[in-house]
Amino acid sequence: MERMLGRVLVIVPTYNERENLPMIVGRLRTALPEAHLLVADDNSPDGTGAVADALATEDDHVHVLHRPGKQGLGAAYIAGFRWGLAEGFDVLVEIDADGSHQPEELPKLLEALADGADLVIGSRWVPGGKVVNWPGSREFLSRGANVYTRMMLGLPVRDSTAGFRAYRAATLEKIGLDDVESQGYCFQVDLTLRTVRHGLRVTEVPIMFVDRTVGASKMSRAVVGEALWRVTLWGFSGLPGRLRRPPR
Ligand code: GDD
Ligand code: MN
Repeated sequence: MERMLGRVLVIVPTYNERENLPMIVGRLRTALPEAHLLVADDNSPDGTGAVADALATEDDHVHVLHRPGKQGLGAAYIAGFRWGLAEGFDVLVEIDADGSHQPEELPKLLEALADGADLVIGSRWVPGGKVVNWPGSREFLSRGANVYTRMMLGLPVRDSTAGFRAYRAATLEKIGLDDVESQGYCFQVDLTLRTVRHGLRVTEVPIMFVDRTVGASKMSRAVVGEALWRVTLWGFSGLPGRLRRPPR
């Protein structure tokens, strides 16, 4: 299947994930031995960058992108995508470093991509999707964010904030990354919206999301705030007939 899709790069953004990184890298290397990994670290104060460097020294499939400081999940992924596109990868995957997304489920996402999708989202909120150990407040936030997003943007997607995804390189090239302003988690919604507006095919496959057991979430008020104002702005500026408009 990987042969059909071409070369796969899995991007792992990290901020203070020193204890999680060896676990997720090990699981990814086992689940998808041919794929290359890129750790995109924002100069984590806990030394995650050095852990990543050590892993890269031992394994020629592991690469590290050192970024100067904490600039947000979206900015880290954009930098990672640029790196992967420049290196000629055909598929670019997003996954959290903390074990919330199961590398063992990645082949399922890639299968859906091989079946013709332009973007595959590992989705918590489609039938068969599961969330394990999430506090009620986080589930409420995620469900609420998705309901609000669907209402404002009319996206035919149940989990547009999800962070477990596979993009074709061609998809990222078509939607363009140069004018993406979203810095935090709302970058997930941003790119989903762009993909849909370009008339590209988005497929959701159910996944099991397991809350982290080690380290802390980087979700913050600022992250929620940015998502709220941007989605609201996109919703109003895109009306009416927003999904029928030609791509910009
Ligand atoms: N480089 C970098 N810079 N990495 C970051 C940053 C940042 O500013 N912020 C977060 N990360 C990394 C974390 O280290 C982790 O690997 C991943 O991004 C997800 O961060 P978490 O803080 O664990 O996210 P979460 O569990 O609260 O949120 C989950 O749900 C969100 C909303 O549905 C994730 O799956 C998100 O991807 C998702 O958008
Ligand atoms: Mn997490």
